[in-house]
Amino acid sequence: MLIDNYKVASPNVTETEEAVTASYNYESTDIEQAKDGSWVVTPTHTQYEFKTHKQLPKLGVMLVGWGGNNGSTLTASILANKKGITWMTKEGLKKPNYFGSITQASTCRVGNYRGEEMYVPMSSLLPMCNPNDLVIGGWDISSANLAEAMQRAQVLDFELQRQLVPFMKDLTPLPGVYDEDFIAANQSERADNVVKGSKKEQMETIRQQIRDFKEASQVDKVIVLWTANTERYSSVAEGLNDTAENFLASIDKNEAEVAPSSLYGAACVLEGVPFINGAPQNTLVPGLIELAVQRNVLIGGDDFKSGQTKLKSVLVDFLVGAGFKPTSIVSYNHLGNNDGMNLSAPQTFRSKEISKSNVVDDVVASNSILYGPGEHPDHVVVIKYVPTVADSKRAMDEYISEIFMGGRNTLAIHNTCEDSLLAAPIILDLVLLAELIGRIELRKDGQEAFRGFHPVAVLLSYLTKAPVVPQGTPVINALGKQRAMLENVLRACVGLQPDNSMLLELK
Ligand code: NAI
Repeated sequence: MLIDNYKVASPNVTETEEAVTASYNYESTDIEQAKDGSWVVTPTHTQYEFKTHKQLPKLGVMLVGWGGNNGSTLTASILANKKGITWMTKEGLKKPNYFGSITQASTCRVGNYRGEEMYVPMSSLLPMCNPNDLVIGGWDISSANLAEAMQRAQVLDFELQRQLVPFMKDLTPLPGVYDEDFIAANQSERADNVVKGSKKEQMETIRQQIRDFKEASQVDKVIVLWTANTERYSSVAEGLNDTAENFLASIDKNEAEVAPSSLYGAACVLEGVPFINGAPQNTLVPGLIELAVQRNVLIGGDDFKSGQTKLKSVLVDFLVGAGFKPTSIVSYNHLGNNDGMNLSAPQTFRSKEISKSNVVDDVVASNSILYGPGEHPDHVVVIKYVPTVADSKRAMDEYISEIFMGGRNTLAIHNTCEDSLLAAPIILDLVLLAELIGRIELRKDGQEAFRGFHPVAVLLSYLTKAPVVPQGTPVINALGKQRAMLENVLRACVGLQPDNSMLLELK
C-alpha cells in the first residue's frame, strides 16, 4: 500500500522550517590483511549527521541539444503534465504522466503494517522540486523552434503534438557551439544556429547566456545538461587537459582538441552551475574534473542509462549473482532517429561502444569463483542506422552463460526501446536529484563542519551508463546497487536505516 502522508518519529531527527537534520549510525567494515596473509573483516560504526535544506529553489534547466529528440520530448511532456493535456489515440484517452522517472514514479518500502508492505513515493522522502515547476531553456545548433523540433522528432502522438504547438512555437534555442570535427559530418545541414569566435570567446558567450537565462527567468538555480549529439572522444594528453590549469590554458590558446561539450562544462563550472553529461564522450576530461573539484561545482555523467544497458546491468548482475558464468554478451541495436544518424560515423560510434562496453566490469570482478585473473566475457556492441524505425530503437541481445556441469544457458532478448520516452524521464531525474544533492550537507562524528557531497556526483550513477566517480572510488554499474545507494542515502537523511529485507519482525 502507498502512503504519502507520513513523518518519521525518531529522537535522531529534528526538523525546523529550514532543514531536516538526522543523526545516523553508518555501519560498514574495515578490511585488513594479517601477516600470515589471511584477512580480517571488522564491523565499524560511524556516526554521521545529515542536514537537508528544505527551501526549494525556483529551478531552471538549460539543455544543450534542446531541439533534439530528448530535449523536445522532455519539454513537451512537462508542458503536457503541467497543463493536464489529455489526448485521444486508437486505444482511448491518454493522460500525461512521469512513468520511467525514479523520483516521480517509483516507491520505497518503509515497513510492514499488520502484514501489509507499506511504501512511500521516492519523491516524498525529502523535499524535491516539482517537475511541473521547472523553467526549461537551452541551446541547439539547429534553429528550429521547440514545436518544430517536437514534430521533427516524431516521438509523441499527433493529437498531443497538435495541442502542444501553441505552447512550444515561441520557445527557441540559443545558438550553440558547433565544431564539425567532433560530430558526424551528416549533422552539418542542421547547424544553422551557431556561436562564432575562438574557443575562449565561445565559452564566454555560454557563460553570458547562462547569466542571461537566470536573469530573464528569475530562477534561483540553474542546472545544465548535455543531451546534444554524441561527440568523438577528445585526446587526453599531458599539457593539454590533464590539469585544470592546462585545460583552461588550452581554451585560451584555441586548442583544437577542446570539444564543444567540454567548453559548455568549463563555462558551467566557472559560473558555479552544475553540469551533467548525458552522452558517452569524454567531455569530463581530467582538467575539467579538477576544475570542478577545485571550485566545488557538481558534475556528473556519462551517457543516460536508458534501455539496453539498463537491462544489461540487471541481467549480468542476476546471472553472476546466481552463480552462472556469462561467457558471451552480444548486443545489436538499430535506430532511425538523428542520434542513430550521428552514430553511423565510426568516431562517434566508438564513444558509444566504449560507454556500453564497461558496464559488466564490476560484476565480473565481483566473482573470481567464476572468472580467472583477466578473464572476461566476450562482449560485442553493434549499432546500425535504420531510418524506418525512427525513435523506436530495437535492441537485441544474446547472453550465453556457462552453467552446471558444462551446460549452456542462452537468453535472447528483443527490446523495442522508444528511445526518447526512456531518456526524457532520466533527464528529469538527473536534474531533480542534482538539485537535491546540492541541498544536502553531512558531517562525520561531529568532528568537522558540515560539508556537501564530493562534487563528482556518484549518487547519480543509477541514471548513467558509465558513471564518472571521484578518483580512487570504485565504479558500480549493477543497477540494484546503484538504486540502493541512492535510496539509502535519501533514507539516511531522514533517519531511516537501509531496507535490509531481513523481515526479522515476521520470523
Ligand atoms: P538528437 O540528435 O535528436 O538531439 C541532439 C541535438 O543536439 C540536436 O538537435 C542537435 O542539433 C543538437 N546539437 C548537436 N551538437 C550541439 C552543440 N554542440 N550545441 C548545441 N546543440 C547541439 O539526439 P537525442 O536522441 O535527443 O539524444 C541526445 C543525446 O543523448 C545523444 O548524444 C545520445 O547518444 C544520448 N543518449 C540518448 C539516449 C536515448 O535517447 N535513449 C540514451 C543514452 C544517451
